[in-house]
Amino acid sequence: MAQQAKVDFKQILDHSHIANPYPLYEQFRETPVALQEDGSYIVSTYNEIVSLLHDPRLSSDMRKSDAQKQALQQAKQKRAQLAAQGQPVEEPEEVVPPFIFQDPPNHDRLRRIVMRQFTPERIESMGSHVEQIVKEHLDKHAQGGQIDIVDDLAYPLPVTVICQLLGVPREDEPRFHAWAEPLASVLDPGQVQTEAQQKQIMEFSRQIHEYMDELLQKLKANPGDNMLSGMLTTNDIDGPMSPRELISTAILLLIAGHETTVNLITNGTLAMLRSPELMEQLRQDPELVITYVEELLRYDPPVHFRTRTALADIEVAGTTIPKGATIILVLASGSHDEKRFKQSEEFIPDRQDNEHLGFGSGIHYCVGAPLARIEAHIALSEISRRLIDPKLAVDPPTYRDNAALRGPRHLPVDFKGLR
Ligand code: HEM
Repeated sequence: MAQQAKVDFKQILDHSHIANPYPLYEQFRETPVALQEDGSYIVSTYNEIVSLLHDPRLSSDMRKSDAQKQALQQAKQKRAQLAAQGQPVEEPEEVVPPFIFQDPPNHDRLRRIVMRQFTPERIESMGSHVEQIVKEHLDKHAQGGQIDIVDDLAYPLPVTVICQLLGVPREDEPRFHAWAEPLASVLDPGQVQTEAQQKQIMEFSRQIHEYMDELLQKLKANPGDNMLSGMLTTNDIDGPMSPRELISTAILLLIAGHETTVNLITNGTLAMLRSPELMEQLRQDPELVITYVEELLRYDPPVHFRTRTALADIEVAGTTIPKGATIILVLASGSHDEKRFKQSEEFIPDRQDNEHLGFGSGIHYCVGAPLARIEAHIALSEISRRLIDPKLAVDPPTYRDNAALRGPRHLPVDFKGLR
């Protein structure tokens, strides 16, 4: 028998909880697997989430869920009705989902091709470049005053880095700046989009596909030392990606590079400014930043939940999730599970036993994790080391309207200058 959750998942999606969703997650964990009104299942405890992330009976392909099949069917009926009334009907273009939304074997093939471009040498060589970018951004504020950690550092840093790695011209950034956030909102299972918003997302998606198509043509004619050129020209044993696969993979990497690391750096700054002794500890012991960032990924992570579809009836913690059901895995709740982590509601910067779910687990484990870690280590070390007498100008800050990819929209900090 499925248990009805004591807390409605809609509360998590309600913006009033976004500054601190963790008390609600604690209530969720009393019912590890909970059926929601709309027929979806919320899984909120560590062991259950990990076992499901490793279960091949779960799919990341949203097209396989009953809800998605119904929505597609309804859209088809609507088009048929319009056509019967003699009205113009636009058939939706068949798009290849990015590999984060695919299952084996195709997921594994595309992921392998990407991983061969994401070489450790390439990532490590970014370290000095990251240092340079952080320095340039901070140096602009040598006089002190107010800095917005989001706009002035945490957003531009990963964007510059991912553009350079992929081979996307930095000067094109303002164009996809407008596309990235709305497209990332698709990852939030609770975002109910109006028809106008859906249309806008479709239009942004069309524009970014067109942009990527053109860029890939240019790189094909004139390849450089970057990941997209590598993916275009590779003689990979898995064979080449099709043109559509290349486009969707490039967009996935670009958006993932835009919408996640920003939150890790911003949440990390917020945590240290809320606790000046923590900031002092980081200044005194620069090595601490390594475990500090892992604790952030556990305690206040950028990605809060991910969605899957059951491909069979699956029994978890005494509940049978039926085939076709949507499953929401609340990673951020799993990482706060008191049964898995000692003092789970405390931020312990040198925590040792810390297998958090911040980057997921299993076959979809984040491919950008080493890059995100390097960026966060350098940015947070420099913020703690260089800002003189920093204070939060607003607490809590305002958050972006996305409960799945959660983070402050701005983080204004007053300070007296730079060291
Ligand atoms: C997958 C988190 C940065 C690229 C994931 C997943 C999580 C995650 C939780 C698992 C998704 C799932 O199981 O469905 C994060 C966080 C980041 C970050 C917290 C920053 C702090 C990045 C960056 C890139 C990236 C910088 C690109 C350069 C990807 C890709 C996947 C992924 C391509 C899909 C992997 C697959 O399906 O096999 N990420 N990510 N991520 N991430 Fe990240």
